[in-house]
Amino acid sequence: MSALNKIARTLVSNKRGILAADESIGTMSSRLEKVGVEPTEENRRVYRELIVTTPRLSESTSGIILADETFHQKLNNGSTFPEFLDDLGILAGIKVDTGAKPLAGASDEKITEGLDGLRERVADYVRLGATFAKWRAVITIGDNLPSDRAVRANVHALARYAGLCQEGGLVPIVEPEVLMDGAHSLAQCQQVTTSVLESLFEELDLMQVQLDGIVLKPNMVVAGAGSLERPAVTDVARATVDTLRATVPVTVPGIAFLSGGQSPELATQHLGAMQSLDPLPWELTFSFGRALVGPALETWRGDEGKRIAAQKALSERVIANSAAR
Ligand code: 13P
Repeated sequence: MSALNKIARTLVSNKRGILAADESIGTMSSRLEKVGVEPTEENRRVYRELIVTTPRLSESTSGIILADETFHQKLNNGSTFPEFLDDLGILAGIKVDTGAKPLAGASDEKITEGLDGLRERVADYVRLGATFAKWRAVITIGDNLPSDRAVRANVHALARYAGLCQEGGLVPIVEPEVLMDGAHSLAQCQQVTTSVLESLFEELDLMQVQLDGIVLKPNMVVAGAGSLERPAVTDVARATVDTLRATVPVTVPGIAFLSGGQSPELATQHLGAMQSLDPLPWELTFSFGRALVGPALETWRGDEGKRIAAQKALSERVIANSAAR
């Protein structure tokens, strides 16, 4: 078993999942502001410390994805976040993309940036304790969207990122997110997700990315947030698994879903329903952000007296998702 394969398997096995706590400074700041917390560097650190010090987190969490800012910060006990996670038996991951920017000449579509200097940044993060990385591409469904060029540009960047990570010893989480924004149907989401994943695996092959040393992080196949369609949990589970079966090679060790704006409870129900469908060739787990930390942030609201209740809210979500597996 290669070192990359071993890390990838650790991330997706034993009914554990990955916690995405890697919101960019801008996104984290606006989430803090929404709950009445001043968006300072220190408050972002305090909030992330609350998350990682949640009791018994390692029982259901295999890895935590951190942002660059957090990676360089310290907890109150003096250890860095990656050192602290290592002591807990949780793998430390790093978001290495630098965000989705408008694609040239196409203001409705985005290309994720961050390839320049990535080889050197990967080496730095490995030195600081990272074992895996994340890069998120976003694909929009709309009138005549996604365009071929947006899909191609994004899967190309994902494949080059994945190659650079593997060369430097990090397992890449490969995240092509078909967004829930819009009024599209479940069938449209299925069609777009299928074609994005097909293009992605062609590109990963071209770039000679070792498929047993990645974790795929896709969207579930759901109807758009603005759609009137409310598919049953079993329909989402079936459509998602059918899409993955049609596109994802069995050498990929595991698939860890993003939550994408689904409610925490629904995301967990969908994950649970997929596990009961025929034997699956890969591990299916969670790599949720909002669906794990949302209730904790809402509970905390910057009040240290609510710290334990907030950690309990996070614990409930990770335990529920682990149980759904
Ligand atoms: P959500 O689960 O909130 O969609 O976030 C997952 C993630 O890591 C997005 O890049």
